[in-house]
Amino acid sequence: MKYGHFSNDGLEFIVTDPNTPRPWINYLTNEKYCSIISHCAGGYSFYKDCRSERTLRWLPENWHFDRPGRYLYIKAKGKSKKAKVWSATYQPMRVKPQFYEARHGLGYTQISTKYNGLLSQITFFVPEHDDCEIWLVRLTNQSNKPQDLEIFPYVEWLLGDYHLELRYRNIMNLYNRVWFDRQHNCVFAKKTASWGDLNIQSFQYEAFFASSLAVSGYATRKNAFLGKYNTEATPRGILEDKFKNISFCSGEDGIACFKHNLKLKPGSSKEFVIILGQTEPENIQKLLVKYRNLSHCHKALDETKKIWKKRILDNIIIKTPDKDFDLMMNIWVKYQLYICNLWSRSPSFYHEGSGGRGYRDSCQDSEGILAINQELTRKRILKIASLIRKDGTSAPGWSDIFGPAGHRPNKDHQVWLTYTVSAYIKETGDLSILSEYVPYLKDKWRGGWEIDPNFSGGPTTDGEGTLFEHLERNLNFAFNNVGERGFPLIGHADWNDAIDAAGIKGKGESVWLAQALVRSLKMLAELAQISGQKQKTDDLLNKAKTMAERINDIAWDGAWYKRGFTDDGTVYGSKINPEGKIHTNAQSWAILSGITDKERLKKIINSVDKYIDGPHGLALFAPAYSKWNPKLGRISMFSEGTKENAAIFCHAAMFMIVAYCMVGEGNRAYKSMRKLMPNVQPDYDLYKTEPYVYAEYLVGPGHPYLYGEGAFTWITGTAGWSFMAGTEWVLGARRDFEGLRIDPCIPSNWKNCFISRPFRGAVYEIEISNPRGVQHGVKEVFVDGRKIEGNLIKPFKDKKVHRVRVLMG
Ligand code: GLC
Repeated sequence: MKYGHFSNDGLEFIVTDPNTPRPWINYLTNEKYCSIISHCAGGYSFYKDCRSERTLRWLPENWHFDRPGRYLYIKAKGKSKKAKVWSATYQPMRVKPQFYEARHGLGYTQISTKYNGLLSQITFFVPEHDDCEIWLVRLTNQSNKPQDLEIFPYVEWLLGDYHLELRYRNIMNLYNRVWFDRQHNCVFAKKTASWGDLNIQSFQYEAFFASSLAVSGYATRKNAFLGKYNTEATPRGILEDKFKNISFCSGEDGIACFKHNLKLKPGSSKEFVIILGQTEPENIQKLLVKYRNLSHCHKALDETKKIWKKRILDNIIIKTPDKDFDLMMNIWVKYQLYICNLWSRSPSFYHEGSGGRGYRDSCQDSEGILAINQELTRKRILKIASLIRKDGTSAPGWSDIFGPAGHRPNKDHQVWLTYTVSAYIKETGDLSILSEYVPYLKDKWRGGWEIDPNFSGGPTTDGEGTLFEHLERNLNFAFNNVGERGFPLIGHADWNDAIDAAGIKGKGESVWLAQALVRSLKMLAELAQISGQKQKTDDLLNKAKTMAERINDIAWDGAWYKRGFTDDGTVYGSKINPEGKIHTNAQSWAILSGITDKERLKKIINSVDKYIDGPHGLALFAPAYSKWNPKLGRISMFSEGTKENAAIFCHAAMFMIVAYCMVGEGNRAYKSMRKLMPNVQPDYDLYKTEPYVYAEYLVGPGHPYLYGEGAFTWITGTAGWSFMAGTEWVLGARRDFEGLRIDPCIPSNWKNCFISRPFRGAVYEIEISNPRGVQHGVKEVFVDGRKIEGNLIKPFKDKKVHRVRVLMG
């Protein structure tokens, strides 16, 4: 693979060429402090919320340059010759090293370079329980001469609200205070005020930067340190021997930089630590003492590695004839899924970083991670349920700092939580969650961006009800809030955020949402049934039937399902549309919701083959919109093939892959999945993004020249759906109310495969053999040598390992 490769055990991706087509990044994080780091140490950090509490500066356009970052300048003083200066992580000086390597691992990144006979190795990590990041540095003199060195660790502060920074760059600096504290040998930094949503308050946190080496110099002002018209690539303070101690920065761009003197004999090494963080001021001293102690740092690093390894490896493991597929499922998809669950869609190298968590995204992330972390899902379900109002609508998201979000209510939020709850009960068998009492939300938002004038700032809850009641109100709202054809109103968009004009006048309808609603009504009916509520079961099933009939009557287009109707009644996603004729979601969800008969199913599959599939995977729809369509909105305005305008949107492609598996199309499912896998892309100069995590999308065929380029990696619903597609559907070890169902749907040329699946207190080691080369269909299942009826394994709950043999055919 060009630019790098996986380690033999698959636990690291090793970048071997710093000039990758895009920065290839890692997330080092615990639940509160997160640091995003590229293969050259570029990127930023934040505490609790990536919008309002940013520590380091980073702007979205910066991925072109991959700066600024966490830097360590090294200066080797020569006796007679001019001093040599370089950067230990290649950036920002980009002096060509004799050796370069960046290892992105689970919870750490290690960057090593060698230059001028000096090997530097920096391991970056975020300890599990502290609000800081650690750079554990080791310098080794591999030359045969003594080295007289000056070392300059360096960061640039953002401090505070990133969105305000983008708008009011010149003003936000005026709030900065950065100072060197002699007593603690530490640079502290803060803004005088912080802006929470609508309130201004005094900045609660303090950022800090410290080293375990003796400090012989310090700098806090960017302009003075870099010099006129200079960038981090040519800091005058270092290159021209103009380093001046500057202990205080007020009202301008702040940095933190130290000067350390270090002499290294041939063959000798020096290890030290840099500590960077942001937290409540009273915590800082403790962190400095703890992490200036090197042995403690090593302990914390080992602990962090151990925790991540356990999270990732100590659960589902698969073995198939495709080792690349195994590597994704066993390690990297799980890791990506954790990051999505921890931080939702905000912190990225590409996104706007608006902070908080989306409702729809969180429902899917927490469903995706269920098989490997049920506690997290349970916590999320109850949190998300508290965003449901008594009228059955849901707030579109929340921030742990500012509370529920209140802008632009999409109309689809109501359908998502039922899937997650149903999956949770199937995974755990814990029906009691349905009768947990959860408050109803009473919020200050009247809809749109408007605040309700009657909002008194008083209680934010409106009584309480059981989780089941919340879900019921959700679905009743979705069922009743329909347009003239009886499909749910699309409002400010549905799953597809960019169909944002179709329903702004309150009339546009979404066929996809109608299908999604059928799926949730059926799932809630199952929950009603197993909790003994007969009448509710019937009522929900009737509603599902009514909606399904409507879809089949009105939305069938001859060879596929239409996608919706705009405010003025114009159809979209239909054969009569010159562009956006066929949308994949309306086909995949026709299958996921089980509304289609055999004949239509065949037609859908043929249409997807014909119009949607291509060498780089399944597109979101076809053809792309080439001009602005004010009836649809933003979807038609993106460059053809990018984002929601007919990209190969991996998340939506996964919907189709699961749908393929539901109808026994193992070859199609696997082929489509492989095209999206980041680790088997045919050309990384075209694909560009990380080979170890999914992109949100690959540019689609409508684009004039970028077809196949990866975009917006890491934080995407693809991770959750891909994990479910691979383990629950392709390998087919699937949670169900009564136990674990074994129902693989594999490519016909797989003769044998294996999945180890922990489930309700036991582990099932499932060997699947497929001697007759079928794609689907289980002939016999043996559990611990005994043949069982059907393909459902009743939970053993005995903490033991059980051997399961599955014969397909
Ligand atoms: C992004 C959003 C997701 C949305 C999708 C399609 O991935 O995070 O919520 O469904 O785009 O618009």
